Amino acid sequence: MTGPDPLFDIAGRSIVVTGASGAFGRAAAQTLAARGARLTLVSGDAGGLQRLAEDLPGHGHATLQRRPDTLDDAQAIADAAIAAHGRIDGLVVASGTNHPAAIGEMTPAAWQTVMDANVRAPWLLCKAIGPHFAAQGHGKVVFVSSVRGRHGTPRGYTAYCTSKAALDGLTRTLATEWGPQHVNVNAIGPTVFRSNLTAWMFGDDDRSSASRVQSLPRIPLGRLGEPGDLMGILVYLLAPASDFCTGQVIYVDGGYTAG
Ligand SMILES: NC(=O)c1ccc[n+]([C@@H]2O[C@H](COP(=O)([O-])OP(=O)(O)OC[C@H]3O[C@@H](n4cnc5c(N)ncnc54)[C@H](OP(=O)(O)O)[C@@H]3O)[C@@H](O)[C@H]2O)c1
Repeated sequence: MTGPDPLFDIAGRSIVVTGASGAFGRAAAQTLAARGARLTLVSGDAGGLQRLAEDLPGHGHATLQRRPDTLDDAQAIADAAIAAHGRIDGLVVASGTNHPAAIGEMTPAAWQTVMDANVRAPWLLCKAIGPHFAAQGHGKVVFVSSVRGRHGTPRGYTAYCTSKAALDGLTRTLATEWGPQHVNVNAIGPTVFRSNLTAWMFGDDDRSSASRVQSLPRIPLGRLGEPGDLMGILVYLLAPASDFCTGQVIYVDGGYTAG
C-alpha cells in the first residue's frame, strides 16, 4: 500500500480540539496535525496556544483563546472552525479539571467547577457543533473520560468520579440520539497519565513514590501513562476505521479496569 491507510486517513478533516494547551490537548494537536488534519485549537491560555500553533506541522490551523464555559463560547468555537475550514468533521474535548477534596472540605462552588468543566462544557460543545454534523450527515465526537467514571477512589474525588460517570452517560445517550445522522460519539478512558493534573505523581519525592506504590499494583502493564499512549485510539476514533463504533468508553489504561 502506498500513501496513508484509508482506514486511518484523517488528512483534510476539520477537527476542533479544546483544552489544546493541556497535556492531552497538545499531544492530540501534534498527532492530528502530523496526519494532515486541519485544526481549530481552543484554549484559555493565549501563550500556550501560540507556542503550540507555531510548533505544529502543516499550516492554516485556526486558534481561539476561549474556554467552553457558556453556550456563547461553544457557539464562538463552532463559528471559528466553520470560518477557518468551512466544515467540522470532528470534536475532541480535551478540556477538563479536578479539585480533589474530601466531601467535608469541598465547597459547592468547587464541585460545580468540576461538573461544569467535565460535563456541562462537553454538552455545550455538542449542542453548538451538532447542527453542523447533522447537516453534513457525519461527525465524530471524542470525549476524554477516565477510569474514575467507573471506579470510585478515596482520594477526594466525589466531584471528579461523578463528573466522568456523567460524561460516560452523555457518551452513550448522545450516540443513540445522533446515530441516525451518522455521528459517532465515543470516549477514551485513561488511567493516570502525565499532565499538569498529575505531574506530582511522577516525581522522586516520598509522596510521589507512595502514590506509585499504591497505584502500580493495580496496573497490569506496570507503569503510569503518557499522553502518547492515548493517541492511537484518538486517531482510530476520528478515522473511517471507527465508523461502526459509537457510544463506547474505550479504556486505554494499562489494564487497570481488567483487574
Ligand atoms: N492526566 C490524567 O491522569 C488523566 C486521567 C484520566 C482522564 N484525564 C482527563 O484528560 C483530560 C485532559 O486533561 P490533562 O490530563 O491533559 O490535564 P491538563 O494538562 O491540565 O489539561 C486540561 C486542560 O483543560 C483546561 N481546563 C482547565 N480547567 C478548566 C476549567 N475549569 N474549565 C474548562 N477547561 C479547563 C485547560 O486548558 P486550556 O488552558 O487550554 O483552556 C487545561 O490545560 C481531562 O478531561 C482529564 O480529566 C486525565
